[in-house]
Amino acid sequence: MATTSGPRYLWTLGRWRRGLGVASPSRALAALVPGVSQVDNKSDFLGKRPHRRHPGIMQLPRLRLPQALTDTAQLLLLKCSMPNVEKQVQALTNYLWSRHLPIEPEELQRRAVHLEKKFLENTDLSQTEEKLRKAVLHAMRKTTYHWQELSYNEGLSLVYMAARLDGGFAAVSRAFHEIQTRIPEFQPQTLMDFGSGTGSVTWAAHSIWGQSLREYMCVDSSPAMLDLAEKLLKGGSESGEPYVPGVFFRQFLPVSPKASSKVQFSVVVSAFSLSELPSKAVRTEVVQTLWRKTSDFLILVENGTKAGHHLLMEARDLVLKVKVFPFSLLPCHCQPPPLPLSPITGTPLKTEKTVIQW
Ligand SMILES: C[S@@+](CC[C@H](N)C(=O)[O-])C[C@H]1O[C@@H](n2cnc3c(N)ncnc32)[C@H](O)[C@@H]1O
Repeated sequence: MATTSGPRYLWTLGRWRRGLGVASPSRALAALVPGVSQVDNKSDFLGKRPHRRHPGIMQLPRLRLPQALTDTAQLLLLKCSMPNVEKQVQALTNYLWSRHLPIEPEELQRRAVHLEKKFLENTDLSQTEEKLRKAVLHAMRKTTYHWQELSYNEGLSLVYMAARLDGGFAAVSRAFHEIQTRIPEFQPQTLMDFGSGTGSVTWAAHSIWGQSLREYMCVDSSPAMLDLAEKLLKGGSESGEPYVPGVFFRQFLPVSPKASSKVQFSVVVSAFSLSELPSKAVRTEVVQTLWRKTSDFLILVENGTKAGHHLLMEARDLVLKVKVFPFSLLPCHCQPPPLPLSPITGTPLKTEKTVIQW
């Protein structure tokens, strides 16, 4: 694990639903940085260059899951003989893509007050308090999205694996690939994956930086998921040599109360896990901890939905609020600058932290 703190980068990525889930660069990654001028897409900033040569277009070669991973996933599905796997996969996929954010307590309170006012305006004042309370609760239940925590037990973990292993692998591979393309000399040594699930992040990181990575810390609150990830690494058994060496599993995120953490990881990833957290307060705490744990890159991936976009922007704003500027990798329309640019002046900057816009 790294113990020094140098420039750190934040990478946010929204995954689209179709295909292997590789996000559209223009929509998912065109995040705006306050204070940085934006290129008007309608202007002729490309000159006579064809659109396919647009510098913001990322070229990721066709991906394949590692054969060992595919074989083991298939083996585990065959072994469990779960009824109606396909239907369950479809149901979970639809559920995850249509999921909204949990409603915050203040918002619930605001809605309740609004409904109460409305009822009082329209109904007989002799209505008892109890009746009014019931009417408000009934209306709230009917009109408010009820966010539910998913309990990733053994069955749901397997269904999740069948539904999302390839898409998750593809989405994080894209982020890793872009970093490697832009900074080929970057050789991370350690990685932490928050909400590691099936371990697809570890497999993707190993495919790209297997030579240099020597420690992968997988953190997941679900023991069943940790168990599944370990089995996937070991060809379906509980013992035996793992396909990727140096992988450790933990149920809890290592917390450090200090503003700067002593133990840091070169790459920290949270893929589709912020959407699993029950409130903004918990998300804030997690993102801040992840950022403290990051020595080089923090990569956040969520679905390319309104909720996913909101989560990424919320996390990005949190990180950008840090007093010293973090580097933020926000691919857009420019050629990669040789040096980090100041978000204010646009000139190359040599201070510790800033915002980069590609
Ligand atoms: C949607 S899955 C994502 C799995 C994986 N990152 C991937 O890309 O396939 C979310 C994971 O986050 C885990 N999780 C939820 N809350 C957590 C928490 N507070 N701490 C650690 N893991 C958590 C769940 O158990 C689940 O495995």
